[in-house]
Amino acid sequence: MGSGKSIVGQHLAQRLSALYTDTDALFVERHGVIGTYFTAHGEPAFRDAEQDIIAEVVDTTDLGVLSLGGGAVLRSANREIIRGRGYVVFLDVSEEQALERLGDASARPVLAGDPARNWSRIRTARLDLFQATAHDVIDTTGLDVDDVATKIIDGHQQFLSRKTITSMPENTTTDSTDQPTVIPVSGGGANEINGGYDVVIGRGLLSKLPAILGPHPYRVAIILPRALRATGDVVKSALDEAGYNAILVEIPDSEEGKHIEVASFCWQVLGQSDFTRSDAVVSVGGGAVSDLAGLVAATWLRGVRVVHMPTTLLGMVDAAVGGKTGINTAEGKNLVGSFHPPAGVLADLDTLLTLPKNEIISGLAEVVKCGFVSDGRILDLIEEHQSQVTNPHSPVLRELIERAVQVKADVVTKDLKESNERHMLNYGHTLGHAIELAERYQYRHGAAVAVGMVFAAELARSVGRLDDATVERHKNILEGIGLPTSYHGDRWATLLDGIRRDKKNRGEQLRFILLESQGSPIIYDVPDESLLFAAYQEIAD
Ligand SMILES: NC(=O)c1ccc[n+]([C@@H]2O[C@H](COP(=O)([O-])OP(=O)(O)OC[C@H]3O[C@@H](n4cnc5c(N)ncnc54)[C@H](O)[C@@H]3O)[C@@H](O)[C@H]2O)c1
Repeated sequence: MGSGKSIVGQHLAQRLSALYTDTDALFVERHGVIGTYFTAHGEPAFRDAEQDIIAEVVDTTDLGVLSLGGGAVLRSANREIIRGRGYVVFLDVSEEQALERLGDASARPVLAGDPARNWSRIRTARLDLFQATAHDVIDTTGLDVDDVATKIIDGHQQFLSRKTITSMPENTTTDSTDQPTVIPVSGGGANEINGGYDVVIGRGLLSKLPAILGPHPYRVAIILPRALRATGDVVKSALDEAGYNAILVEIPDSEEGKHIEVASFCWQVLGQSDFTRSDAVVSVGGGAVSDLAGLVAATWLRGVRVVHMPTTLLGMVDAAVGGKTGINTAEGKNLVGSFHPPAGVLADLDTLLTLPKNEIISGLAEVVKCGFVSDGRILDLIEEHQSQVTNPHSPVLRELIERAVQVKADVVTKDLKESNERHMLNYGHTLGHAIELAERYQYRHGAAVAVGMVFAAELARSVGRLDDATVERHKNILEGIGLPTSYHGDRWATLLDGIRRDKKNRGEQLRFILLESQGSPIIYDVPDESLLFAAYQEIAD
């Protein structure tokens, strides 16, 4: 923003007598004003439409000069396609000059509030992607339009001669799918660092950790279960090399770690290590670890920064994003906790290589949920590439993770504290929680949510809200992945008790999140408990 890409692009096209296309302008032509579309349909829908336009334009023979919106690089598919098609230039500019060129920057929704800070945050979040996608970077600060066009033409000549001399195939330099994807999350609340934080998804991300921690913290406590000690050692070495004083804090595995005694042990370690307010906590592990570590960070000296490095699929798409922390008590799960957004989330896909397949399958339930309540492309992807969705190497799983994180990021940005919008993320969870309780937490969360979604779909169908095809789609997709869609037929009294307790604990009425169609969740107050029993009979085996 403010680098002058449109005006430079037009001028360059004129000098080269080439065609000029601006994907933002094409978007406006087809879908109307970007800001309005963004607000009405959300970022995933905008990025989908933008991706379609880019794919279409890049496919034309006589491409000429193409100007792309700054967010286009957020999608790995876009990065791949543009880098493979031609000579890509990133026009950089100083913050001061960008804001001068933009004039009334506050009129742009993404800059509203504090244009300078927001501009700088967006640039920082995308910088790695710009640099990795572009063949050349030109700093346009202080240059006029013609100077920039000359630099591009010169750079292009060199690019062509390099290609001729080396005869290298176009894509051998960088495997752009290995470039990280950055998903910004706003709504950071009291722990807000630079107005929000980023979820970075990719491979080999350890080197990013010091940049997120920043120069301030000196001591870093890496909280992890023993099973992930090897990963923890690598994280610790990276931090030690970067000049931090990192310590490993081992906690019991899984739910055993989400106890007040474990939090107390962590506080003791921080105290004995003289942790100050400017030091930091890093979680390495699944959702249980990020919940506990988040709580420890939220409470130590009334809040120190925390970075999550999720190593399970559920951790990546759900637990590490959004800032909820929690521990269990004798009375129930997650009854004590706080909202403490992280300073950043690093989801390294390579960590999934050691994750048991049943954990991947369990995590996919939350991904499917994001597909039903918001991003329908998730469902299409699963249907089209069923054999690939549990493969940690596959680009399909990566795209599913990116899309699910984007859904959560959008919701959390609008509603950090679960007052309204965030409720839709509880789709399938009301019965799911009751099943987990009935099974004394020996049933995988994802499996319970899967059954809960089918139950909610049956309930919606029975009250005339949802069509048969969408109910069947729930079953087909979940069963295709290997998730259950039915539950024991003789447990209704226990489950109803669990549902009532869960609602009471959360101060809610007997209400469910239902769908009216894919992407249209509603809050439904249950008028008569017999409706629930009828839906239960539909899922009973
Ligand atoms: N805060 C939130 O918003 C939120 C959202 C959803 C779930 N949660 C919480 O998350 C927890 C569940 O998270 P989970 O499903 O990640 O389970 P988990 O944290 O219990 O991890 C599951 C198992 O996988 C192992 N593991 C983790 N990473 C591994 C890897 N890379 N290779 C091999 N083994 C690995 C763990 O040691 C553990 O045994 C629950 O406590 C739930 O309440 C929180």
